[in-house]
Amino acid sequence: MILKSLLLENIRSHQKTELKFDRGITVFTGRTGSGKSTILMAIEYVLFGSASGISNQMILRRGAKAGRIVLEFEHNGSTYKVERGLKRTGKSILVDEHHLRLFKDGVKLPVMARAKDLNEEILGILGYPSDCNPRDVFEVTSYTKQDEVRKLIELRPAERQQFIDRILQLSKYKNTSDNMRDLISKLNEEVKRIEGSVEVELKLKEEVEDLHREKIKIEGDIQRRKKELGEVDTKVNELRKKIDEIKRASDRILKSKEEYDSVNGRLIRVEKEISKLEEEIKIFEKEVVNSKLEVQKLKIGRKIEEVWEEKDKLLKEIGALEGEKKRLRQELKNVEELKTDICPLCKQKISEEHKKKLMEEYSRRMEEIDHKLAELLKKKTELGEAEKQIRAKTELEEKVLEYERSLTEKKKRLKELKEEVDILNSRKKELEKEVSEFEKVRRTLWELQEAEKEAFAKRESIIREIELLNSRVKDLVERIKEKKIELEEIEKLKGKLSKLKDLVDLLGRLRDDIKNIREVVRNKFLDDLRMEFQKFFEEIRREGEYIVNIDQNYEPIAYTKSGEEVPISNLSGGERTSVALSYRLALANIAAQISGIQKSELLILDEPTVGFDKEDIRTLPEVLRKLKTIPQIIIVTHEDELKDAGDYKFEIEKVNGVSRVRKVE
Ligand SMILES: Nc1ncnc2c1ncn2[C@@H]1O[C@H](COP(=O)(O)OP(=O)(O)O)[C@@H](O)[C@H]1O
Ligand SMILES: [Mg+2]
Repeated sequence: MILKSLLLENIRSHQKTELKFDRGITVFTGRTGSGKSTILMAIEYVLFGSASGISNQMILRRGAKAGRIVLEFEHNGSTYKVERGLKRTGKSILVDEHHLRLFKDGVKLPVMARAKDLNEEILGILGYPSDCNPRDVFEVTSYTKQDEVRKLIELRPAERQQFIDRILQLSKYKNTSDNMRDLISKLNEEVKRIEGSVEVELKLKEEVEDLHREKIKIEGDIQRRKKELGEVDTKVNELRKKIDEIKRASDRILKSKEEYDSVNGRLIRVEKEISKLEEEIKIFEKEVVNSKLEVQKLKIGRKIEEVWEEKDKLLKEIGALEGEKKRLRQELKNVEELKTDICPLCKQKISEEHKKKLMEEYSRRMEEIDHKLAELLKKKTELGEAEKQIRAKTELEEKVLEYERSLTEKKKRLKELKEEVDILNSRKKELEKEVSEFEKVRRTLWELQEAEKEAFAKRESIIREIELLNSRVKDLVERIKEKKIELEEIEKLKGKLSKLKDLVDLLGRLRDDIKNIREVVRNKFLDDLRMEFQKFFEEIRREGEYIVNIDQNYEPIAYTKSGEEVPISNLSGGERTSVALSYRLALANIAAQISGIQKSELLILDEPTVGFDKEDIRTLPEVLRKLKTIPQIIIVTHEDELKDAGDYKFEIEKVNGVSRVRKVE
């Protein structure tokens, strides 16, 4: 890449700066802060955008709404023009898509929608690897930043080695090797961890066996308990059968007891009846005896019919007498009331005397009748008395008969009752015997029921025990399953372990190989570096006073012609600058080679004299002018003495915060 022209609009201290470049050495001089480095920054930014590590904020001029950079360069026989614009939008500064442009040989390439597209395009043109950090490549191959020229040879060996290893991308091998070491140690940790897990395998197997044994033991226990349960069940059934029987017996006895009570009640009633009967019989017998005695006392010889006959005759006689008496009384009355003196009877005339006589006759005859009547009435009373007595006797006799009949009945009844008492008593005896069994039966029933309860409780407890044992077996099965899963896991781990060990082995061997490769590569590049260095050193050194070699640690070492080692610091300023520049340029070429890009035609040096003494600075233009293998060199410096080195010279100053560039003829 050869730069042709550069346009800056509102870039940092530059408002509008147009520059033309050509092959040869271009030197920009100016005071610190005048805007020199800005030119180099702009070149880097326009090529790589923010991948250059320069932010939009850093690059756009303060206060400016928009800015742009346009760079023209030649590369591989074509001329390219690349443009990047920036715009301020609110507080942020963005790439202006309308000012992302690329021209090849005056022809605009298809519109770049995004900065990324432009970047890719540029990388393609410059032949940079697509996965590289373009800034790194650019800065190693073309753009040497402030104070880096001398730095390289003055660094401490370890730092230099690191820096060069990075440029040579040997750090890749180291990184890979380090990564592999980390990986190997991680894998080794994993191996240890797995070995730790696998170690428990034996213990686990023993545990599984123990669990198995315990399971078998408990299963035996369960079988025994089940047998016991069967026995208890049979016992419970037997007891229940017996209890049923006893209950039936008890019911029977209860019935007997009821019967006993009723028999007893009946007995009491019958015995009462018997004693009442016996009492009555006694009374009746006495009554019979008394009545018979009374009958005997009555001494009656006649029969009632004779009395009635006699009484009839008597009543007739009495009737006849009373009739007579009534007739007499009528005749007497007639006589007394007689008005005439004619006898009513004889119809003859009767005298007073006769009348008197007649009346007396009547009275005497009436008296006789009364007398007779009285006698008859007396007789009638006697007859009434006799009748009465006969009647009383008959009554008595009937009464006796009645008593005797009743007695017979009562005796018959008594006999029946006594027979019943006998039957009842014998039944009672029988029942008593049965009832006396009742307590015994009750007791047996209670005992049986207690035994049943006990057996049932035992049955329940066995069932519970079986349940408990079953749950323990379940638990054990679960645990065995878990352990087996763990063992399977371990088996898998063992497989993994052996694979891991193989991998660790392989990685270790690979790592050794990488170390070896790194050494081979390193040696190869070291050889190349030495060759490149010697080429540049031959080109720019002054009279060959010293021989300079690069040792195994990339350290440049100077020798006198007689082979004596001389520290680089003892070399003259010009020698040191030659060594440093040769070293830097050799590295640039090696880096280009490694990145697979062309050797750079452009060398940008920003303040290359930092750390140089006056003598060194003075020798630099001579050294640079000798450097014919690099077609375009752009130097930025605040040292006026370097102006002499330039084919084209520019002076930059800053006036009122704006950089002004003036070409010095
Ligand atoms: N965004 C910016 N806008 C305006 N001026 C800036 C901006 N950034 C930096 N500057 C100024 O630009 C000037 C030039 O800086 P620089 O090019 O690095 O100077 P030097 O010539 O020392 O290399 C400095 O004085 C700095 O303050
Ligand atoms: Mg500067």
